[in-house]
Amino acid sequence: MSIELHPVTAQNWRALTKLQVREDQQEFVASNVYSIAQSQFGFENEGHWDFYPFGVYADGEPVGFIMYCLNYGHSRYQGFIMRLMVDERFQGKGLGRAAMTQTLELFRADERIREVGISYEPYNKVAQALYASLGFVEPGEMVGDETLAILKLR
Ligand SMILES: CC(C)(COP(=O)(O)OP(=O)(O)OC[C@H]1O[C@@H](n2cnc3c(N)ncnc32)[C@H](O)[C@@H]1OP(=O)(O)O)[C@@H](O)C(=O)NCCC(=O)NCCS
Repeated sequence: MSIELHPVTAQNWRALTKLQVREDQQEFVASNVYSIAQSQFGFENEGHWDFYPFGVYADGEPVGFIMYCLNYGHSRYQGFIMRLMVDERFQGKGLGRAAMTQTLELFRADERIREVGISYEPYNKVAQALYASLGFVEPGEMVGDETLAILKLR
């Protein structure tokens, strides 16, 4: 199976907004339409964070969504993975892990990113285990009501 990340564009955004998680997972992640709206504006924290939203595609079919943001001037983490979801029909097939691995490869190739942040609901054990297996470590802090985890790249 070929798994690819494609930037959100005028052509694909509608299809990506149709992807959904299970009902019991909805509190773990914002909708894709919310994330795509959010991606247009970024946010300010120690300078400006730019957002990069992508569709996750398996053999050409949209199956999920991942969005990261970058602020090379940030003292703590210069990349932050803001959103990850795999549609309920496609979960448990390795797609979430592949989307994370591909995103981290992009980060590893960029010398300006020394550390990567991510956050999740404290009771989202699937996400926590996935990120821990990729090397993210919890420093014991919260971002709002979510647990922070950090991956040191260099
Ligand atoms: C978290 C999420 C993106 C994972 O995507 P996925 O494609 O289902 O995950 P993968 O198939 O790549 O599996 C990743 C790991 O999670 C495990 N996993 C996936 N679904 C699981 C489930 N329902 N129960 C237990 N373990 C599960 C897999 O066994 C795998 O572990 P392994 O690689 O050590 O065997 C997906 O479950 C999801 O969209 N959840 C709802 C939204 C969410 O929580 N997003 C993250 C917000 S921080």
